[in-house]
Amino acid sequence: MSVSTKHPLPVHPKAIAIIGAGGIVTDSHLPAYRKAGFKVFALYDRDKSKAQSVARQWQIPRCCDTLEDLIAQGAAEGCVFDIAVPASEILAILQKLPERVGVLIQKPMGESLAQAKAILDCCRQKKLIAGINFQLRRAPFMMAAKQLVMEGQLGDIHDVEMRVICQTPWNLWQFLFEKERMEVNYHSIHYIDLIRYFLGDPQAVYCKTMKHPKMLELAQTRSSIIMDYDDIVRANIHTNHGHDYAPDKQECFFKIEGTRGAIKIQIGVILNYPQGSVDKFEYE
Ligand SMILES: NC(=O)c1ccc[n+]([C@@H]2O[C@H](COP(=O)([O-])OP(=O)(O)OC[C@H]3O[C@@H](n4cnc5c(N)ncnc54)[C@H](O)[C@@H]3O)[C@@H](O)[C@H]2O)c1
Repeated sequence: MSVSTKHPLPVHPKAIAIIGAGGIVTDSHLPAYRKAGFKVFALYDRDKSKAQSVARQWQIPRCCDTLEDLIAQGAAEGCVFDIAVPASEILAILQKLPERVGVLIQKPMGESLAQAKAILDCCRQKKLIAGINFQLRRAPFMMAAKQLVMEGQLGDIHDVEMRVICQTPWNLWQFLFEKERMEVNYHSIHYIDLIRYFLGDPQAVYCKTMKHPKMLELAQTRSSIIMDYDDIVRANIHTNHGHDYAPDKQECFFKIEGTRGAIKIQIGVILNYPQGSVDKFEYE
């Protein structure tokens, strides 16, 4: 059995214009673009000194003073736009983009159903080639799992579980402290997307999302989600970001069971965040 985890790369990659110079851009987007050999053409953040420092550190040739300037220069260069700002800011930025450009939008797709619909409408009206950044379904271990499931190696899938028991340093993202809806929008949304990647859309979803007594200043930091497919498939997401005990007692795994086999994947990046731990892929 051979399993491929290679992504197809573009033959003629476009340059990239980035909006937002925060943690996700410096920790993930810029290292990934460098690894893939993609050219970053310009950067804008409304915090000018942050943008200048990131541009210097990553040798980005243009650090724009205004969003309008970044859009004008990026469009003239034929760039793909990379929007990596809090979700409440996405729509206003999309509305300024010219028609038909490519755009990668960091998750979540807005902070409410109304915002998600407005973002979708804007993308359609402007005929944008847009994608939401749900990278978990493209992680190598998930690509391998998906291939095994598609080949029927696990038989009929009947049990899917995502379990996160960890201590998340939420202070890294100050903008989350004013949100009315937090854990599902800004974290578990990845797991909802992941389960949809394997099982499609559920017929219903049940969810209870809760505060933690030591993190009352955040709207919610723990969730129990049931994705209801039918009378046979059990698909659950459990997250507890307030497990304030030993790092080696933390857990973060995705498990998918079928009538012929099961896969369990440890997602190391979530454990002891931001130090992280190893990824593990087990197949029985
Ligand atoms: N896909 C993932 O796994 C993942 C992981 C972390 C964060 N994110 C997402 O990325 C987004 C940003 O997160 P972060 O960790 O970089 O946060 P951050 O707070 O570190 O950075 C956000 C940056 O956006 C800038 N900004 C805010 N509004 C702006 C606007 N209107 N125009 C220009 N700049 C603006 C801020 O000045 C800040 O520098 C969030 O929506 C978050 O959900 C995704």
